[in-house]
Amino acid sequence: MTTVGVFDSGVGGLSVLRALRAELPQVHFVYLADNAHAPYGEQASQTVLDRALRLTERLRSEYKIDGLVVACNTATALAIDELRHTHRDLPFIGVEPALKPAAALTRNSHIGVLATRGTVHSTRFAQLLHRVTDEPQRPLHVRIQPCDGLAHAIERADPVAIRERARFHLSQLHAQEPHRPPIDTLVLGCTHYPFASNILQALCGAGVQLVDTGEAVARRTRAVLSLEAPAAGTGPGSVTLLSTGDHHPLEQAAARWLGMSAQVAAT
Ligand code: DGL
Repeated sequence: MTTVGVFDSGVGGLSVLRALRAELPQVHFVYLADNAHAPYGEQASQTVLDRALRLTERLRSEYKIDGLVVACNTATALAIDELRHTHRDLPFIGVEPALKPAAALTRNSHIGVLATRGTVHSTRFAQLLHRVTDEPQRPLHVRIQPCDGLAHAIERADPVAIRERARFHLSQLHAQEPHRPPIDTLVLGCTHYPFASNILQALCGAGVQLVDTGEAVARRTRAVLSLEAPAAGTGPGSVTLLSTGDHHPLEQAAARWLGMSAQVAAT
């Protein structure tokens, strides 16, 4: 059976795991939440890089993984080049804010991006932004908002804090260019944010479409690992949950959002 590692700073990568399980039901996924060191988004880039290297070594040594999904925009932005360099024999699939899909979806060319501070200030994000906006035929207007505290509120499953952080950051985003038309497309550039999509959608209004990367990453994982659609009768895949800190947030999030009753494996 193919085994694929998945990691994030905490529960956010479950939004990617949900899509991975739908796309690749025959695969064994090992999901590692680094919640003892979350959130990543407001930490020094060297800290995030060190953590990504440690998690990769752990998943490789304990689980013989065939590929690794870095289900975190911040860790992808700050660490994936070094991960690929250090582990040349392991296929990596990263995530990045869905700017390209948003550019294809927007009708009025006004896009918002919510992401962590670490992602927004990374070189990788600057390059992505440049690639997407460097289209003279169709100028795009992109408003970018680093969302301190939002992933942490989602990690704590604190609805009051989620609503307060979401409201604050969206008001900052809208205030950036008040003379321009409002955005019609909002990129959820952190894997935690899909778990606040009801609140974000209500705050933005029905006219704004929210875009995340889970399904695209799942399709990319299938392609990178050359996995076929599961043949009839293929045994079902499975999920092992691991965390570096308190197990309860991950178990509760997996039950609530993925309908999984799995316990976090003892380590
Ligand atoms: N879920 C992560 C991301 O996609 C990290 C959030 C955080 O830990 O700050 O960026």
